Amino acid sequence: MPLIPIEDNFNDVVAKAQRGYGISDADLAARAEIDPADLAAVKAGQPLLPVLRRLARHLKLSPDALVVLAKKEAYPRAPIFPRGFAMFNTPDDDITVNNYLVWDPKTREAAVIDTGTDTTDLRDVLASQQLRVVAILITHTHSDHIAALPELIAATGAQVWSHEREPIALPGARTFADNAYFHLGNIAIKTLPTPGHSPGQTTFYVQGLSWPLALCGDSLFSASVGGSPTQLAAQIKNTRARIFSLPKDTVIGPGHGPLTTLAHERRYNPFFAPDRLPPLPGKVGASPAETPASQAEADANAAPARPVALPKPARAGKAGRTNGKATPPAKPSKSAKPGRDGARAFKSRRNRSA
Ligand SMILES: [Fe+2]
Repeated sequence: MPLIPIEDNFNDVVAKAQRGYGISDADLAARAEIDPADLAAVKAGQPLLPVLRRLARHLKLSPDALVVLAKKEAYPRAPIFPRGFAMFNTPDDDITVNNYLVWDPKTREAAVIDTGTDTTDLRDVLASQQLRVVAILITHTHSDHIAALPELIAATGAQVWSHEREPIALPGARTFADNAYFHLGNIAIKTLPTPGHSPGQTTFYVQGLSWPLALCGDSLFSASVGGSPTQLAAQIKNTRARIFSLPKDTVIGPGHGPLTTLAHERRYNPFFAPDRLPPLPGKVGASPAETPASQAEADANAAPARPVALPKPARAGKAGRTNGKATPPAKPSKSAKPGRDGARAFKSRRNRSA
């Protein structure tokens, strides 16, 4: 798999924070005591580092991490999973979206997490590894994450699960609550609630593979977060409580951008870098009793649970397992430093709210 670019540039991060905290340009420039023209230049993509440092302090961002992002000095290194895990990256207009496959190597039971926009490569792995998909788990129901759901259901016949605040309008689709468990042989998958980007945004915490794994949809990207125009503060609190309390060696599989690790994000994510985080807690995950205040806040503001319409109707296909051979599983994105390849690891594109 080619190197996946970091999802957001420094100016995307500034724009997301500003929008999420509801601060106007004039107000931000006044608070940071900068020339409005310099703010406009930064937002247009000009890396004015002293200006960035001033802005960061007023946007609840880490100045150091924001400068590292602007200088394109850090790209995450995620360890390779020898078995039981594959990542897929499919195109969606001018960006790409990630989805994942997790399986127990002994029982061959598998779960698909999100669908991306195309399942061709995923179905190749199902065939070559002779896997049986027992569940399709949805982190959140934004269209890019469920675009290929009809074709995946037709190919596997597997049951679809989404959070109870984001039900999917499909016969037989089921919903899960916070802190529920799915099991695939010796693999356990826990549903950690990380709402904010969407009302039911869920992180699937996977234990039993070579490394602890958090498949977090758009709760968290490497060096950024998914856009949240009205619930950013809740999203940050929930993500901090539920994901940043996981073991430090946890691999993070975001909905967009490269695989990363919790250790990398603690250091390089402007929303969560050391000066934005409490000391490392000594335990794994958070218990239901530790629901942060922001959870209630997010729930109160969450839209009523209306079934999400699919982009196209599911085809009436028979559930099936294919038994093709010899296609190696997709590997997680290769880690790399910026260096020569680094230019391709950072991209310039229009700002958006993924
Ligand atoms: Fe999303």
